[in-house]
Amino acid sequence: MNTLSKSAQRHATILLFGATGDLAQRMLLPSLFALHADGLIAPDLRIIGTARTPLDDAGFRELARAALEKHLPDDRKAGDRLHAFSSRLYYQPLDASTVEGFDRLAAKAGDISGGLSIVLSTAPSLFEPTIKGLASAGLAGDNVRIGLEKPLGTNFISSAKINDAVSAAFPEHRIFRIDHYLGKETVQNLMALRFGNMLFEPVWNSAHVDHVQITVSETVGLEGRADFYDGAGALRDMVQNHMLQLLALIAMEPPGAFDATAIRDEKVKVLRALRPLSEGDCVRGQYGPGTSSAKSVPGYEGDLGKPSDTETFVALRARIDNWRWHGVPFYLRTGKRMAERRSEIVVQFKSVPHNIFKGRYGKLQANTLIIRLQPEEYVRLLVMAKEPGLERERVILREVPLDLSLSEAFHGSRRRIAYERLLLDLVEGDQTLFVRRDEVEAQWRWVDAIRRIWAEQAEAPKGYTAGSWGPVAGLALTERDGRSWHE
Ligand code: BG6
Repeated sequence: MNTLSKSAQRHATILLFGATGDLAQRMLLPSLFALHADGLIAPDLRIIGTARTPLDDAGFRELARAALEKHLPDDRKAGDRLHAFSSRLYYQPLDASTVEGFDRLAAKAGDISGGLSIVLSTAPSLFEPTIKGLASAGLAGDNVRIGLEKPLGTNFISSAKINDAVSAAFPEHRIFRIDHYLGKETVQNLMALRFGNMLFEPVWNSAHVDHVQITVSETVGLEGRADFYDGAGALRDMVQNHMLQLLALIAMEPPGAFDATAIRDEKVKVLRALRPLSEGDCVRGQYGPGTSSAKSVPGYEGDLGKPSDTETFVALRARIDNWRWHGVPFYLRTGKRMAERRSEIVVQFKSVPHNIFKGRYGKLQANTLIIRLQPEEYVRLLVMAKEPGLERERVILREVPLDLSLSEAFHGSRRRIAYERLLLDLVEGDQTLFVRRDEVEAQWRWVDAIRRIWAEQAEAPKGYTAGSWGPVAGLALTERDGRSWHE
């Protein structure tokens, strides 16, 4: 089994498409800076930025410096590290929609015999021409890897078209599809929890688990991304990628090894086993005016400045058709302008088969495992314990948490941006935390079927007040099964 891709050589140059964009400024440049500051990338690694904006090296260095000043924590900016980092940066303006400028880009890249890692963080419409341009300029050879940032298409067909275009120039082992959730430390911890402990795996199945909940709620609204978001909506923005990846990591069989092939083989089996949803299994909502972080905020259409049918909330009841998960619902919900920012997985276990405390006031709650991914990072197991006391007739039981706070347990270790991990893996050629084509395709197939249901229903999304937990119908999704969302 190979952990690293066939071309696993540590690359000497990074080429960043979309280098002046929002993601580059907020995440990619700060992540590269962190790798630089911690000595995790080679001292001579060069970072070449490219975008349409006409800048020279000095202009890009200035842009990067301003972005780092804005986005780095204060303790990271100290000393001359910013200056040393900026000397790694170069820039070549490029209109990626035509092949013409790519020769100049190749000339700027110069000698790439030390390996080239490309990150495409551009509009999806530029993916195909960019790949053509790279191939025509000799920037797609054996020692070149390509990282693709979402959105990779808007449905199965458009994503297959992008994947075909990319694979015409790059074989799968040199394609690194980014889902930044996989770079999060706590998401990788799901595997540590499941497969590094004896405790959980024997009860991780339909005999013991009643249901699973995955919540990714955000308090932010549109954040100036109207053009992209209004054409995407919560289902395609969050469920198609991040939430289905979380579901796959929670539900997959134990892989034979911690490597790219073994892990992705198991994830894709789960994604393919997702049962197509029926009408009553999915709820879409859109936020109206309300309150967020103690401030009045407009509704989605107010933010957008025009009427829209785009959903900013979605709740689903998913089923996985295999032996392990037979009869176990997976409830998923995500939304903008919700009550709290929270990413969390809740595994609700079944009740004990026989309550020996019955008749002595001993009320039992079924065990709950809460895996909080953000903003806090903890694993909490709710277990039953006896309340202290000398009562003879009664045994009073209470639910108490067994807490593992990851930030406390690993106090002193730096919390990393997800992209730090992913960029390092790209440069080093490790595909374990990147999404394979068959996974993306299974994800799109399932999501497309949900969108077909919505298109047939032709109903407007259900309204919810900004700052709430979503529309009433979202709550009803669990309530009618006699369950409730963990809040
Ligand atoms: C992105 C979505 O992929 O993930 C955004 O496009 C969303 O809409 C973001 O806000 C959430 O990421 P995180 O890491 O803040 O949970």
